[in-house]
Amino acid sequence: MKRIGILTAGGDTPAMNATIHGAVVRANQLRIEIFGLVKGFNSLFNPRVPHVHLNPLFQEIPEIDPTKGGTIVGSSRDYVDPEKKEELDTIASRLQKLGIEGLICVGGDGTLNGLQPLAERLPTVLAPKTIDNDLGLNYPDEPDEWVRVHEPTAKGGFRYEKRDSKAVFDLNYIVNYATPGYATAVFVSASGVERIRTTAESHRRIAIIEVMGRHSGYIALGSAYGRPDIILVPEHPVDFEHIVERVKHIYDLQKNVVIVCGEGIVDEQGRELGAETKSTDPAGNIALSGAAEALRHKLISMIGDRYFQLYRRGNSAREAIFTRKVGHTQRGGRPIQFDRFYAAQLGAKAVELLLEGRNNAVATLQYDSKKGFEVNGYDASRFRDRWGYIHARRLYPLLYDPTILKPSRLGIDYLLPIFTDAVGDDDMEHLRRTLFAVGNLVQPYHSINTDVNKRIRYLKTEE
Ligand code: F6P
Repeated sequence: MKRIGILTAGGDTPAMNATIHGAVVRANQLRIEIFGLVKGFNSLFNPRVPHVHLNPLFQEIPEIDPTKGGTIVGSSRDYVDPEKKEELDTIASRLQKLGIEGLICVGGDGTLNGLQPLAERLPTVLAPKTIDNDLGLNYPDEPDEWVRVHEPTAKGGFRYEKRDSKAVFDLNYIVNYATPGYATAVFVSASGVERIRTTAESHRRIAIIEVMGRHSGYIALGSAYGRPDIILVPEHPVDFEHIVERVKHIYDLQKNVVIVCGEGIVDEQGRELGAETKSTDPAGNIALSGAAEALRHKLISMIGDRYFQLYRRGNSAREAIFTRKVGHTQRGGRPIQFDRFYAAQLGAKAVELLLEGRNNAVATLQYDSKKGFEVNGYDASRFRDRWGYIHARRLYPLLYDPTILKPSRLGIDYLLPIFTDAVGDDDMEHLRRTLFAVGNLVQPYHSINTDVNKRIRYLKTEE
């Protein structure tokens, strides 16, 4: 291969530039040109295919900085539709006109779903990214456990349900242990939890902190490092009676409570608390935005004002219980060392997979309790259920203890390999040196987009 393309798709993560960096470094060593396609699949829907040559003369352009969050080539939530054969053919011919012989998609489950039809047209592989940590399998035969259940009102007349696992869960057999972006998102969430704590303590308040992750509770689980009192994950329906009992017990004891909830938490009927007003993004994902607020309203009505008045800790439940979202700060900024290091390795591995002819493969991060982490390649079709669909990975239920409302012992064992040395000395030194630099006050922010724009080239076209 002489020239390959790379694109970054879906919600960004802090580690995407690190993946691009890893791919470019490997491509330089192998004397392969690498073109970045601008704004993910959006570039391929555009006849002019905006792109950036990332390694002219086999040297990385200076804009690629693995320590900087986001993606210098931009991202979008546009995905290829496997049903649109003509569109796929057009995309393949555009890439051919650009001289691109292989494609790396840096993406999550949405991107992986569209990978196969692309891979039937040109060699295509995936380098994973997602803060949600939901691209992977808790054990290799997890896709086989999905069944379709008839439901006339659902799209296609059915919905998917997962049967109980028959596998013995073992950390060594997780496919794609952690995705680039997850560690930094947890770092931000856990720091946020720590900060909210002291103010909740001072004002005798109950804080509900909502973290991202869609229907997967991995970020919520990791936020345990910030030492909240209660964690709620989407995989275990909320038992309000149990939560109120725990909240009162903790509040009686310490006059403050910190609760973390994943944005996708559900009630006992399986209804998402945060999806009262249903809206979807271009990929069809339900936008979840109100879980913490819904939980707050429930606690206000169940605990009542009198409880707080009795203790002279406020006039009302409304005053005492507040919510905060960690929000997009989880997705932005400098990636911590764990993410940078493995994202770069996964980018390099994706280049190797293309060269090895492993079309339709995914670069994965595997864990071995004796050897630690290593990157590997995994056939994308093994992520698919029997109908060909790829499901977002959900938190393996036994990683969480619904009685204590915290990670279980197994959950702790899962977290340790990722986080024990996840933050590098340079991460803290970087903060110390840059946050209050005088230049921040005198110089306006210089966006990387301004520089990258100057490098964008277009395909000559009569279309
Ligand atoms: O998938 C990543 C993610 O950050 C989710 O955790 C979250 O629900 C969603 O994207 C938010 O998307 P957007 O930035 O489009 O609002």
